[in-house]
Amino acid sequence: MWITKFASCLLSLLPTALAAVAYGGVNEGGGSLAPEILPGEFGVTYEFINYTNTQYFLDNGVNIFRITLLLERMCPPATGLGRTFKETYYDEFIDAVNFITNGGGHVIIDPHNYMRYNGSVIGNSSDPHAATTDQFAEFWHEIAKRTRFNPRVVYGIMNEPHDMPTELVFKNDQAAINAIRYAGARQLILEPGNGWTGASDWTQPSCEGCTPNSEVLTKIRDPGHNIAFDMHQYFDIDGSGTHDTCVSTTIGTERLYNATQWLKQNGYEAFLSEFGAGSNQLCFDCVNNVLDFLDENDEWIGWSYWAAGPMWGDYFQSIEPYQGPEFTTTWPNCLKPHLP
Ligand SMILES: *[C@@H]1O[C@H](CO)[C@@H](O)[C@H](O)[C@H]1NC(C)=O
Ligand SMILES: *[C@@H]1O[C@H](CO)[C@@H](O)[C@H](O)[C@H]1NC(C)=O
Ligand SMILES: *[C@@H]1O[C@H](CO)[C@@H](O)[C@H](O)[C@H]1NC(C)=O
Ligand SMILES: *[C@@H]1O[C@H](CO)[C@@H](O)[C@H](O)[C@H]1NC(C)=O
Repeated sequence: MWITKFASCLLSLLPTALAAVAYGGVNEGGGSLAPEILPGEFGVTYEFINYTNTQYFLDNGVNIFRITLLLERMCPPATGLGRTFKETYYDEFIDAVNFITNGGGHVIIDPHNYMRYNGSVIGNSSDPHAATTDQFAEFWHEIAKRTRFNPRVVYGIMNEPHDMPTELVFKNDQAAINAIRYAGARQLILEPGNGWTGASDWTQPSCEGCTPNSEVLTKIRDPGHNIAFDMHQYFDIDGSGTHDTCVSTTIGTERLYNATQWLKQNGYEAFLSEFGAGSNQLCFDCVNNVLDFLDENDEWIGWSYWAAGPMWGDYFQSIEPYQGPEFTTTWPNCLKPHLP
């Protein structure tokens, strides 16, 4: 008995230093800008990364970049969702990926489509215009086939599914996982839930009649045993990330609490792939509390801030080096000190 007690005493002495996250970084949100303009023009409508500024982040300890893409640009509606890519868009995208991974960073591939394609919910069988779950799987199979030998690539299945049956989110997620593994790729996969993949709603219905993520997503199976849940969280009044005021210094950890308990109960891991806040002391404290919380809870393996990337202009949450308003505030005050 005393041995057990002694051992657990020792364990409690091995605290936070061991438990920091493995990944810390930024979203590169330029590739999915102006989604209403199709196909758009590289450097005018959209641009994946600014290479100079990305090098700055690599030089300063950022080890993960979530790069957004738009499915309708990769797979134009003329040919449909699937394995036929528009190769110029793919080349522009993969150049950005390779620049980062050759420089030692990791990249999360992020179809920034909210589980929609060409205006329809992917896999909605009562919508004759909807791309099917199989087509979505084919898209992922093709991406995985092309990138399976790059160990620094992470597959983010989908940005922020919402307002659809959680069971369909699950079905599409599972199909993507199977397709990625069938292609021979073994890298980490990030799996989103319903409700804009929001952590605060994870254990409760995110829409009228929707089953909570916590009840549906426990069914997920990964033949490669390398998945984490993909969660987002903002700290403003409605959790939308559109206001520069935070509710309180503790709102972030409060909103992450229920989902974290669920992760602990089920032995899962998660990645906070979007979070962001305004440039003021209350928000700095809030973001620092969140990053401390992620370090203290082993279930959290990493984070990426929203957002960096070219073409944001003076967007209030932009931390793009030398250009974004938060490059001189949130970046030095919160993010840089918490990089792993
Ligand atoms: C990248 O950002 C730098 C500022 O850091 C700027 O001078 C340069 O013009 C940008 N490059 C492109 C291609 O926009
Ligand atoms: C895309 O949507 C348009 C407008 O609804 C439709 O005419 C077209 O057939 C759709 N394309 C595909 C591939 O579903
Ligand atoms: C699926 O399609 C039907 C028919 O167009 C539509 O009424 C329904 O709202 C769609 N479901 C979702 C979740 O969008
Ligand atoms: C956490 O879950 C409890 C029980 O379901 C709920 O009452 C509470 O509102 C949730 N907390 C947050 C911050 O959403």
